[in-house]
Amino acid sequence: MNIKLAPSIIAADFSILGEQVRAVATAGAEHIHIDVMDGHFVPNITIGPLIVAALRPIADQTGVVLDVHLMIENSELIIPSFAEAGADIITVHVEVCPHLHRTVHQIKELGARAGVCLNPSTPLSSLVEILPYIDLALIMSVNPGFGGQSYIANSTDKIARLREMIDLLNLPNIDLEVDGGIKPSNAFEIVTAGASVLVAGTSIFNQHASVAKNIAAFRQAIAA
Ligand code: DX5
Ligand code: ZN
Repeated sequence: MNIKLAPSIIAADFSILGEQVRAVATAGAEHIHIDVMDGHFVPNITIGPLIVAALRPIADQTGVVLDVHLMIENSELIIPSFAEAGADIITVHVEVCPHLHRTVHQIKELGARAGVCLNPSTPLSSLVEILPYIDLALIMSVNPGFGGQSYIANSTDKIARLREMIDLLNLPNIDLEVDGGIKPSNAFEIVTAGASVLVAGTSIFNQHASVAKNIAAFRQAIAA
């Protein structure tokens, strides 16, 4: 399986955001993971459609996918703005989408790929009815809101069970993305369990090494 890396810009140096995104794109990252937070669904506020629009030209030049993770309430009100700004994937949380089928349809109607995300304690059963309609299923392996948290160990079993569900339903085109606390040291375990896209923030954007070196460390860990 072709494993994709999705650096999460929540951990990037926002004073040079364009440079940082170009650097991870040049280093071979397939996605740019954009964490959108509203201070209600999660206890933090981050960015909105403006940043997606600012990064769109870089995505066009480098081929990276703008992977927008909405950790917000009433997402259906602002999904059009994210699609308009140039989001390639728009992922919503099942916990705050009472009309999930309609919201997924809304995203796809706007020309973006649709993702659905589960918080750590949200059961996989909440995905069963929507799986056939989505392009990406996102498993949170930390409680959403902040980068730099530790991976919740039982996420690996949840990933394996979701991979089994996807395979049983014969939906090979669904990406299984995992987000939170992912490092080269646990990447192999997470990929072996069935993840196809790894979101990583502080293990890619940090003072210890360049983004190129950090991405190379992930590739090495996964290849192992
Ligand atoms: C949590 C965020 C983080 C981020 C990844 O709401 O979504 O999971 O993307 O940050 P790290 O890789 O530092 O945990
Ligand atoms: Zn995220």
